[in-house]
Amino acid sequence: MNSVYASLGTTIFETVSLAARRTGAVNLGQGFPDDPGPEDVRRAAADAVMDGWNQYPPMLGLPALREAIAAHYAYHQGLEIDPSSEVLVTSGATEAIAGTLLALIEPGDEVILFEPMYDAYLPLVQRAGGVARFVTLAPPDWTIARQALEAAVSPRTRLILFNNPLNPAARVYTREELAVLAAFCVDHDLIAICDEVWEHVVFDGRRHVPLIDLPGMRERTVKIGSAGKIFSLTGWKVGWSIAAPPLLAQLAKAHQFLTFTTPPNLQAAVAYGLGKDDGYFATMRDGFQRSRDRLADGLRALGFAVLPSEGSYFLNVDIAPLGETDDAAFALRLIDDPGVATIPVSAFMQGTRTGTTTLLRFCFAKRDETLDAALERLAHLATDEAFERR
Ligand SMILES: Cc1ncc(COP(=O)(O)O)c(C=O)c1O
Repeated sequence: MNSVYASLGTTIFETVSLAARRTGAVNLGQGFPDDPGPEDVRRAAADAVMDGWNQYPPMLGLPALREAIAAHYAYHQGLEIDPSSEVLVTSGATEAIAGTLLALIEPGDEVILFEPMYDAYLPLVQRAGGVARFVTLAPPDWTIARQALEAAVSPRTRLILFNNPLNPAARVYTREELAVLAAFCVDHDLIAICDEVWEHVVFDGRRHVPLIDLPGMRERTVKIGSAGKIFSLTGWKVGWSIAAPPLLAQLAKAHQFLTFTTPPNLQAAVAYGLGKDDGYFATMRDGFQRSRDRLADGLRALGFAVLPSEGSYFLNVDIAPLGETDDAAFALRLIDDPGVATIPVSAFMQGTRTGTTTLLRFCFAKRDETLDAALERLAHLATDEAFERR
């Protein structure tokens, strides 16, 4: 058996979900919205199933979708992308990340990962034969420091795998902050894989800055996106990679023997959806921002220390002021009493196990009733001893 997978235990995500189902806890752990997603986009998928093409689509993706992706980024992010040679449609961002790592890593190559990180990154790097080197980011600013980057790099380093907006930190990095990363990549001749699945879910008037747009990055960045997050349809698993032609040609070779393609009807619906007007994107962001504020205000009113959430479906609460030091143990206790499921942020620090251990991640992409039910339950905790000791 392969040792990378054999050594993986049960993840905290599974443990939390199982425990939440067993106890009937209000589940703010899982990162998917209650909302069913835009009706016209779902209708476009249904129409494409009934009236459209249901056989193998082209390996790179439907031409209409590749064109829609290029047009979408030209409009929303000012990027010039050639749909025929710089876009590859994948089965979710997860396949894009896996395929990119398989395509670019030679055994023994070092890859810089940033903690906290999406849980798939480390096993995928290792399975591709890479050696992970870590940069641990710290709350509340999760700042990328050049010194920390230099401490992680070696002559064997080939890649960095970065996520912006960053799940679970809920940070949206600015152009100035990204410039530190870009200069580092250029100076050490590294390729950047930038997971930007949360690019449209940003709040308070922020604008997402794609790393590929920074000086020196156009030829050395793989930009990864996901329709699942753009349209609140997380089960669709339609994603894509954008890269300069020589890089993209190599990614396509990995993709052709991984999944080869992605359901054509969903591709057709995403092609339609990416052309939706500004109103759709503004309304989507406003809705999540309202939910963020509802949960954050409620938690603050109960005395919790809530960290800023600039983007994604998540916000974090610091439990250190409660005298707690073990987020995983505290998260499991909360599921039993008062019955609210969250994810400990230490679960995203599996590389070094040296990062923060006092943050809980709450998903606010839920109906008002769900958020209010969680707050009501947490109000019981707020009257408990632990809170009074503060
Ligand atoms: C940072 C990050 N990358 C990738 C994914 C997975 O995207 P997809 O469902 O398109 O594979 C997620 C989903 O939560 C995510 O948060």
